[in-house]
Amino acid sequence: MMTAETKTTNEAHMDEDGGLTDDTVVSMNLPHLTFRTRNVEVFYGETQALFGIDLDIFRNQVTALIGPSGCGKSTYLRCLNRMNDTIDGCCVTGIIELDGDDVYDKALDPVHLRARVGMVFQKANPFPKSIYDNTAYGPRLHGLADSKADLDDVVEGSLTKAGLWDEVKDRLDAPGTGLSGGQQQRLCIARAIAVEPDVILMDEPCSALDPIATARIEELMDELRENYTIVIVTHSMQQAARVSQRTAFFHLGNLVESGDTEQIFTKPSDQRTQDYITGRFG
Ligand SMILES: Nc1ncnc2c1ncn2[C@@H]1O[C@H](COP(=O)(O)OP(=O)(O)OP(=O)(O)O)[C@@H](O)[C@H]1O
Ligand SMILES: [Mg+2]
Repeated sequence: MMTAETKTTNEAHMDEDGGLTDDTVVSMNLPHLTFRTRNVEVFYGETQALFGIDLDIFRNQVTALIGPSGCGKSTYLRCLNRMNDTIDGCCVTGIIELDGDDVYDKALDPVHLRARVGMVFQKANPFPKSIYDNTAYGPRLHGLADSKADLDDVVEGSLTKAGLWDEVKDRLDAPGTGLSGGQQQRLCIARAIAVEPDVILMDEPCSALDPIATARIEELMDELRENYTIVIVTHSMQQAARVSQRTAFFHLGNLVESGDTEQIFTKPSDQRTQDYITGRFG
């Protein structure tokens, strides 16, 4: 029997005529389709930044968005949790579905959506509050904990998952802004995780970090994908190759190609992808 869930998933493996593509045959364990985006276009006023983007994002995978500066990676990422809504004059068209729900449905509360689809930015941005209050912020806002003991558990669990608990457990009342850059970024990840999102969007989360802090976050991404779906924008080809299972290459507002990371990095089908990953432009 075909449930709604398997149907949506399988559609991703059909070609234009609804026929099954090669990988359908081998993928009895089809990954679950988390985001389905079709013909996504974004305009900033008169200027078009994204052109007809068709991309699928699968659960429990890390999807890397790569491409030269200005190609639209951040713009695409922000479509997924409606962060573009906050930009004056920005208009998004096309289909963006999260688990089959229309993300742009007027009835959908963007605050709720952003709890399901959390975001971590390039520059760590802890609130000017304690480590505890930073982590407890979302659960308090959404009323996710019934008691102080419950909230303590959520805070400890989130900091543990973000790989920060051991480093901060004795100073939960200290300001979040007093942590090192790498710790602040993990605090922001803990804050995102604390509301139990389905998806974590990360826009160049390591670009301000040293190699050791970067390695720590990369390791964390691999642990987190067991429970979450991750979409990461990165300028580092090595990072994309290390952390992601799927890669999407953007160029001048177009999605040039997307697929298994290994295939994109070893046998890209488009010359522009080849040129970018070999450092010929960008
Ligand atoms: N708030 C905005 N207002 C107007 N134009 C914008 C805005 N944000 C982005 N753009 C434009 O949209 C295009 C895509 O920008 P975007 O920030 O998505 O690129 P990017 O791939 O994330 O680049 P980078 O790697 O430099 O972060 C660019 O031409 C940019 O100038
Ligand atoms: Mg960007």
